[in-house]
Amino acid sequence: MNLVRQFDEQSITQAVIGRLAACDDPRFARIMTSLVSHLHDFVRDVTLTESEWSAAIQFLTDVGKTCTDKRQEFILLSDTLGVSVLVITLNHPADEGSVESTVLGPYYWQGAPELPRGSNLARGVKGEPAFYSGRVLSTDGRPLENALLDIWSGDGEGNYDMQIPGETAMKARGRIRTDAEGRYWFRSIRPTFYPVPTDGPVGRMLRKMGSHPYRPGHLHIIVSAPGHLPVTTHLFVAGSRYLDSDAVFGMKESLVAQFNRHPAGVGPDGVQLETPFYTVSYDFRLRPAAAAAPAGPEREQLATGS
Ligand SMILES: [Fe+2]
Repeated sequence: MNLVRQFDEQSITQAVIGRLAACDDPRFARIMTSLVSHLHDFVRDVTLTESEWSAAIQFLTDVGKTCTDKRQEFILLSDTLGVSVLVITLNHPADEGSVESTVLGPYYWQGAPELPRGSNLARGVKGEPAFYSGRVLSTDGRPLENALLDIWSGDGEGNYDMQIPGETAMKARGRIRTDAEGRYWFRSIRPTFYPVPTDGPVGRMLRKMGSHPYRPGHLHIIVSAPGHLPVTTHLFVAGSRYLDSDAVFGMKESLVAQFNRHPAGVGPDGVQLETPFYTVSYDFRLRPAAAAAPAGPEREQLATGS
């Protein structure tokens, strides 16, 4: 048998894909086959030079080295290349009655304290007060009791707690559960626009692209309820700068919320405020988990693994 041991710039692709012949995981084999095909096509398409290839390896090395337990530069890279939103959009179709999903972002911090409804999540946090309220419902309109809202945001100047030098405590974070009527309410601040971190390799990439790093003002929320698919989403501040050019492509019109401004006075919680404040109302709808899992092992894994 005449074995082919040497490959040219075309046959190399099939040779690499051929190494998957003994792979016993069809999904993994499919993903790797496509990845290798596109990667090789990309290299051929731009006729990648050795120095460009070396720069790419150095860039990815820098991305890895920039990650810490509080900073995830790979998520930021995925976000700014639109991959995060693309994956989310493929897996969470917008037309099924559920609140739309958007990016998790790099600032999620697991284990925020569970607080009573009405709590102020933003004690000691800079920013204009905002009172959030609404309901969590099933897509059939049924109120969902004991649904969990895992909430986080930056402060009124656009800084997340983990970005503030010397700040070791969680700020502007908390988890709130709904009551028997599916209602939630809490106090925080009105978030403002902010730049994604630009002091690392992703920042260098954005500058080279000539792209700005800003995200419009938003509050992050993961909404979950028993028997329903959880949704990772935002509430965007209506009228915020950069709503039309979100650096991570996460903006969705259905997630834009009106922040109604009120003069200083008694807030919805009965407490006197010395400054103007905002009220926001938004209902979240979740799909029942059973209805959301079409046949097929891949989709089942997605449904239970999130
Ligand atoms: Fe954010």
